[in-house]
Amino acid sequence: MTRSLDALFEQDRTHFMHPSTHAYDHASGALPGKIIRGAKGIRIEDHQGKQYIDAFAGLYCVNIGYGRTEVAEAIYEQAKQLAYYHTYVGHSSDAIIELSSRIIDWAPAGMKKVYYGMSGSDANETQIKIVWYYNNVLGRPNKKKIISRDRGYHGSGIVTGSLTGLPSFHQHFDLPVERVKHTICPHWYRRAPAGMSEAQFVAYCVEELEKLIAREGADTIAAFIGEPVMGTGGIIAPPQGYWAAIQDVLKKHDILLIADEVVCGFGRIGSKMGSQHFDMQPDLITVAKGLTSAYAPLSGVIVGEKVWDVIARGSQEHGPMGHGWTYSGHPVCAAAALANLDILERENLTRNAAEVGAYFGQQLHAAFDNHPFVGEVRSIGMLAALEFMADKDARKPFDAALKVGPQVSAATLQRGVIARAMPHGDILGFAPPLVMTRAEADEIVGIVKEAVDEVAERTLAVAG
Ligand SMILES: Cc1ncc(COP(=O)(O)O)c(C=O)c1O
Repeated sequence: MTRSLDALFEQDRTHFMHPSTHAYDHASGALPGKIIRGAKGIRIEDHQGKQYIDAFAGLYCVNIGYGRTEVAEAIYEQAKQLAYYHTYVGHSSDAIIELSSRIIDWAPAGMKKVYYGMSGSDANETQIKIVWYYNNVLGRPNKKKIISRDRGYHGSGIVTGSLTGLPSFHQHFDLPVERVKHTICPHWYRRAPAGMSEAQFVAYCVEELEKLIAREGADTIAAFIGEPVMGTGGIIAPPQGYWAAIQDVLKKHDILLIADEVVCGFGRIGSKMGSQHFDMQPDLITVAKGLTSAYAPLSGVIVGEKVWDVIARGSQEHGPMGHGWTYSGHPVCAAAALANLDILERENLTRNAAEVGAYFGQQLHAAFDNHPFVGEVRSIGMLAALEFMADKDARKPFDAALKVGPQVSAATLQRGVIARAMPHGDILGFAPPLVMTRAEADEIVGIVKEAVDEVAERTLAVAG
């Protein structure tokens, strides 16, 4: 058994190019691999039979928890009946027709149609193409730039990697592309100038956006893209009033709003989508992850009525839009999504995300608000984060070389809980499956407390 495992790892190191992985360390064996062999509820099991609580739901995606055979059966039944047919030129399947109406029911008012892809990245690429097409049909060929935010995450394609406001996604790739501009991240704790209240900070974010629009020219800006709550940038909910104020600016300048709901959609923050929580009225919405709880890869661009009308007009003037994927509207993925939505609705997991998420947040606040190592505790629904700071009152971060965030994540993992060291800053992120119970929340907080204490002691010993 040991030998065959060794051989398997050797094969993995030789032929599998992993995403977001240190290529050399993996290939050389310096980075120990893990083979995941099973999962149930909020727990996964590795090749040694060791169990971990997955407090990040994979990559914020397994909303209904692992091991739901109902979804596996729906996939099997669909694959037996019709495993594939394309959806070009008006072809459909029963599953994709039903799913499209169900998605519109989950979305805020004013949404009309769904265009399907396989990932959040390809859906956001579609978004930008739609926005460019829209302005071309309207005879505004110069209105093409897209505003995104520092620390926003929208994928890692060419345009979507550009939209992503994290330097590590740009460096060595010649990104961002020219049409993408970034504005301030709405993180009051780290970005507000000293002494500024949250309300003043909202006005400051608006001012920064207005300045950017004035600099570039409103007639060159097509759309603004944002996650209702930032995920990969550090789990950051905006201050109260932020979205209302930003939307006023966008409306004034005739700039479309794209809500990237890849993380927030399908119950994660305790509302159907993040848009309803913040009373956003987006023109376009991106969904993925929780749409199938990752039981099959599926994403969607939800197109609002205003944009749809222009697309319909465009086809009358120019013929069919030249944009399509082979797997758009894949019936097997649609069947997985339908079974997933059945579970989310039947078990009222959006409410569980609100209630147990609030409890999880309270327990994190109780454990860490007064911890000298923790600058900020953040929580909304089933999203939470701890941000570690060298001096919490002066808001002074640790030296990045100390890798405090990755150290805490490793200490947490060693104790059997997966929480993610976010890629920017010393931040430990949580995005558990929406089925998490209060008892499981307590277990996670207890383990994380031990891990944070251990790393705090070690770090302070080095510093002192
Ligand atoms: C908000 C958001 N948008 C888009 C994406 C990209 O999705 P994918 O990794 O499926 O391409 C992600 C992935 O984490 C995301 O969090």
